[in-house]
Amino acid sequence: MIKNKVVILLCVFTLTFTFLLFVFHLDTLNINKPNKRLISKEKGKFLLIPQSNCDDDPPFLVCLVTVSHSQWKQRNAIRQTWGRDQRKDGKRTVAYFLLGYDTRYQSMILNESLNYGDIIQKNFIDTYYNLTLKVLMGIQWVHKFCPSVSFVMKTDSDMFVNTYYLTELLSEKNQTHFYTGFIKAKEKPIRYHMSKWYLTKEEYPQSTLPTFCSGTGYVFSGDLAEKIIAVSKHIPILKLEDVYLGLCLQKLNVTPVELHPSKPFHTRKVEFSICNFHKLVTSHGVSPAELLIYWRTLAENSKEECWKKMKEFLWS
Ligand SMILES: *[C@@H]1O[C@H](CO)[C@@H](O)[C@H](O)[C@H]1NC(C)=O
Ligand SMILES: *[C@@H]1O[C@H](CO)[C@@H](O)[C@H](O)[C@H]1NC(C)=O
Ligand SMILES: *[C@@H]1O[C@H](CO)[C@@H](O)[C@H](O)[C@H]1NC(C)=O
Repeated sequence: MIKNKVVILLCVFTLTFTFLLFVFHLDTLNINKPNKRLISKEKGKFLLIPQSNCDDDPPFLVCLVTVSHSQWKQRNAIRQTWGRDQRKDGKRTVAYFLLGYDTRYQSMILNESLNYGDIIQKNFIDTYYNLTLKVLMGIQWVHKFCPSVSFVMKTDSDMFVNTYYLTELLSEKNQTHFYTGFIKAKEKPIRYHMSKWYLTKEEYPQSTLPTFCSGTGYVFSGDLAEKIIAVSKHIPILKLEDVYLGLCLQKLNVTPVELHPSKPFHTRKVEFSICNFHKLVTSHGVSPAELLIYWRTLAENSKEECWKKMKEFLWS
């Protein structure tokens, strides 16, 4: 009798074990099968990393774009416009998309990653309150896989970014210890709990925020990626990623500076004109369709032509 019980118990145990193994195996298979090159275990906890070519051809500027899974229209518009792997005076710019994990979208995201090789992904729940984790993931990727980049930009999926003009302006800047964007100084934390930017006294006890750059678009020199990751280990995560970056950089004694006296970073939607958009770095609230139109219009009408037309207009 006892022997029988032991056998049954063993059988149940083995079956359960096999079942669990099968389930876990399926799970890892799902994530790991499509492309070993893109997804690798030795590369930290990243699920997907881009085909960046950082060692052979280091980019001058890497744009890290926060995006949600369903925003494939935005990703495609950015890929065709400012996010394209392109050069200005020999300086290379690229854009990569930052994503957390969502089972419902994973096959689509894998497909995109295989087709475009421009997705950085880790296994965290992709929510607004996890935005800081998302941005830190992007910076960690730069630190680990693209440390030779000159500048890093963080921006959003509803932004127009004039990467050409940005490259031109950054070319004259110091490639170390540099931080720029739409500067917010002496702001107070929002204590109103219905606000998207609400901070409790527990999360942030101080009465003023550090000087920081708006999350719609900021740029820092590549040397800071490693330093931000190191210092972030000692600063409790704050859900507002731009404020959090401001705290990290304050700790590193890096204060934001204006990129140009004309203040080319905008957090609002700037009305489109050829002259305007040749001379700005960011504009906010741009739809994928607008992005395509703006980009094509700028490509067809150079800066010089814009001034010529202006002069003609003024003289006529
Ligand atoms: C994968 O991507 C290609 C190219 O973007 C697209 O044509 C195709 O429909 C996608 N397949 C799936 C299953 O999403
Ligand atoms: C952030 O992601 C982690 C890891 O997936 C998860 O445990 C946590 O609940 C998420 N936080 C929020 C606020 O969504
Ligand atoms: C650039 O920064 C480094 C280190 O902070 C400094 O030594 C150097 O003088 C700076 N160069 C310029 C042109 O500002």
